[in-house]
Amino acid sequence: MKRFMFAAFVAFWSSVLSIWAYAALAAGGGDAAPADAAEAERTVSLEELARHATPEDCWMAIDGVVYDFTDYLPRHPAPPVVMTTWCGREATEAYDTKGYGRPHSPAADALLPAYRVGRLADDP
Ligand code: HEM
Repeated sequence: MKRFMFAAFVAFWSSVLSIWAYAALAAGGGDAAPADAAEAERTVSLEELARHATPEDCWMAIDGVVYDFTDYLPRHPAPPVVMTTWCGREATEAYDTKGYGRPHSPAADALLPAYRVGRLADDP
């Protein structure tokens, strides 16, 4: 009987300890996640943006977000110069009008997040 009581005592306290450890870890992880996500977002100045102004290294800012479209350029359906003119620049109006007053489709909008680099620091 003594042995059984001892085993029950150990089992009880080890389960209390593991629940406590799990709760502490879960709370720590919950706090850390948003901070990590905020740190992961880069801020890009207009000067840095302007250093990526060639078809081989083409960044653009659209609505305060900076994108690296280097890999997308060959897939864009219009002649390359239509997009490459905007490499290294703030291109919200160009994107919103396609250069002739028509917005891009929702399908085009859905492509943007995959190329995101960070936020534009000095959003005009
Ligand atoms: C910022 C400069 C850009 C300019 C001036 C521009 C201009 C154009 C033009 C002239 C066309 C062909 C004509 C038409 O479909 O109406 C077109 C089509 C298209 N562009 Fe762009 N584009 C730009 C950036 C982008 C970006 C960043 C993406 C996506 C990552 C994109 C995705 C598309 C797609 C998917 C089409 C097919 C039609 C549509 O879905 O609207 N373009 N663009």
